[in-house]
Amino acid sequence: MSTVGIDQIGVYTPAQYIETTELAKRRQVDPNKYTIGIGQNQMAVPNPTTDIVSMGANAARTFLSKVDVSQIGLLVVGTESGIDQSKASALFIKSILNLPNQLRAFEVKEACFGATAGVMMAQDYVKTHPGKTALVIASDISRYGLNTGGEVTQGAGAVAMLISEKPRIVEFLPESASYSDDVNDFWRPNYSETAFVDGKYSTEKYLEFFTHTFDDYLKQTQLKVTDFAALTYHLPFTKMGIKAQRLALENQDEATKTRLTAQFEASSKYCRQIGNLYTGSLYLSLVSLLHQGNLNSGDLIGFYSYGSGSVAEFFAGRLVAGYQNEIATNHMQDFLASRQKLSIDEYEAIYTECGKVKTDDYELTPEAVISDGEVYFAGVKDHLRQYKVKGA
Ligand code: HMG
Repeated sequence: MSTVGIDQIGVYTPAQYIETTELAKRRQVDPNKYTIGIGQNQMAVPNPTTDIVSMGANAARTFLSKVDVSQIGLLVVGTESGIDQSKASALFIKSILNLPNQLRAFEVKEACFGATAGVMMAQDYVKTHPGKTALVIASDISRYGLNTGGEVTQGAGAVAMLISEKPRIVEFLPESASYSDDVNDFWRPNYSETAFVDGKYSTEKYLEFFTHTFDDYLKQTQLKVTDFAALTYHLPFTKMGIKAQRLALENQDEATKTRLTAQFEASSKYCRQIGNLYTGSLYLSLVSLLHQGNLNSGDLIGFYSYGSGSVAEFFAGRLVAGYQNEIATNHMQDFLASRQKLSIDEYEAIYTECGKVKTDDYELTPEAVISDGEVYFAGVKDHLRQYKVKGA
């Protein structure tokens, strides 16, 4: 049987952030609610030169020089922060990255599940197109509104993954368990810049769908909780994953509980510092685990993906021998430590600017606002979005 999985993985997140304790003070909330109750310490803040195309392209550029670009036959972008009602963000990204024209490029939407839909399609594509690879990009800006319950669970970023045969990082097991139902827990109508959310209901559904998919997966595969080196979750905020993990660890022995809890801590570190990436969140948890967890080649990692609306899927993969050579462990930690902290006034001003709907042409330069990636959104000309690469 052919092996398929994640050959390369790269992350991009904005270079500005706020401290949630400072946000709590401004909102007259006990800071412990944000840092302990919700489990978020910092939150990435995107600026007007950042959108899902620039972030997605920047994430893919972290590893493109290491792969044979001519073999990429599929490009899927999972997002729920789309920039156009018709043209796929994948086509803008294809152009920025100079990918071949012999490519199937499109966008997928199902809330935070979009990227997992892409990963599943990519596996099927690679299995049926020997020698070809697929690029899956998860890119989103999580936006709820100033002074709302969801505000502290915002964030932004992108994760890009190359899916291939004989992958160098994670080899997926063939089984998976999915569950879908028509649920009104989170949605964003076309006329709204921010999502509508029934937060308490969404957490109930997330946990209910976790139980459905995890139980089904264990039944299908005959695997046990003790077989997993780590479980990773879609993390809209870290407390959410803690709640799911509690369900997974019910009736487990103390050694398993201790081991999986330590790995959960490692997998949730980046979420604590960045916030919700929507479609990219689960894969950010994987990167956080790969960088900070206690892992060995051959270890089994579980993945729980949840997208409001709602679709969930549980699947798993094994770490490939030599995976450590493919991940730049220190780079991400150094980047997070070097980000620029914004005051709450600065964050509110940037948030408001990003929310303005502009219908006339305008130009943005990296000097006009802090542009934090090589690829940036440069404004609109003749109703077409413009992207530039710094220094090009
Ligand atoms: P809230 O009403 O502000 O908070 O909403 P709360 O009152 O429920 O408190 C939160 C926790 O803080 C509670 O702990 C409190 O006890 C604790 P819990 O009972 O949950 O363990 N707390 C404190 N702890 C320590 N010291 C204190 C203190 N005070 C309270 N002083 C909510 C929170 C998450 C609902 C809100 O932020 C929200 O609506 N967020 C957005 C929705 C969301 O993220 N839902 C998650 C599941 S759905 C999903 O994951 C999909 C999603 O990513 C979208 C997509 O698919 O595209 C969102």
